[in-house]
Amino acid sequence: MIPIKNSEGIKRMREACAVAATVLARLREQVRPGITTHDLDQIGRDLIASLGARSACHGYQSHSRRTPAYPAYTCLSVNEEVVHGIGSLKRILRDGDIIALDVVVEYNGYIGDNATTVPVGTIAPRTAELLKVTEEALALGIKQAQVGNRIGDISHTVQTYVEARGFSVVREMVGHGVGRAMHEEPQIPNFGRRNTGEKIRPGMTLAIEPMVNLGGHAVRTLSDGWTVVTTDGQPSAHFEHTVLTTDSGPEILTIPRAT
Ligand code: MF3
Ligand code: CO
Repeated sequence: MIPIKNSEGIKRMREACAVAATVLARLREQVRPGITTHDLDQIGRDLIASLGARSACHGYQSHSRRTPAYPAYTCLSVNEEVVHGIGSLKRILRDGDIIALDVVVEYNGYIGDNATTVPVGTIAPRTAELLKVTEEALALGIKQAQVGNRIGDISHTVQTYVEARGFSVVREMVGHGVGRAMHEEPQIPNFGRRNTGEKIRPGMTLAIEPMVNLGGHAVRTLSDGWTVVTTDGQPSAHFEHTVLTTDSGPEILTIPRAT
């Protein structure tokens, strides 16, 4: 069953998502050559605390008991890292890198989830194209989050848009419902067929998150148990919003609020 939020739940989701978006907007301003991903994670931790929220990533235990609890406050994934990169003093950003910033906060019992990928200095043209196409795929996927559509309409739209431009979508991780828990039903793959999957109804809160590789779609997880990288070492991009479904169309909740 996909949870449907009532007006109270929607109000709290709005607040949690606004906090997540504000943190992400401020964190991205800190990206520059020379900074370490550990420093960025500390800045993320402080931003989250300053807004009265808690990182939903820190201490997160995945369902596989072989994986340690997530040790950082944000997910920072550089170049060939796809998602769940752990901030490190050894990872110093350099001109030409890209970095995916994924911020998930819990505020007042509800969770807001969003991500973006930003260039560090000047990046290669094909990598710039990767970022543009992934962000556009997210926007097109969100447009499909219409009451009466099915989840597969989001999946199919993302996949066909990405693949038509010569990039590939990651299979192993998917978007998801989000609410009191970080991961609720449904799963939202970035590949699939039109008119398949669950029907979209008003009051769903969905984290839509294309992960797109410049090369092949294959990924593997590093020995830290978390960091997912492309098998071919080519760059990967990740953009994500939390969206509310309504009778008048999808509403993006992860928009920074003026504070
Ligand atoms: N946006 C990611 C997700 O939905 C954030 C994961 S946080 C972590 O899975 F704790 F799992 F690292
Ligand atoms: Co997510």
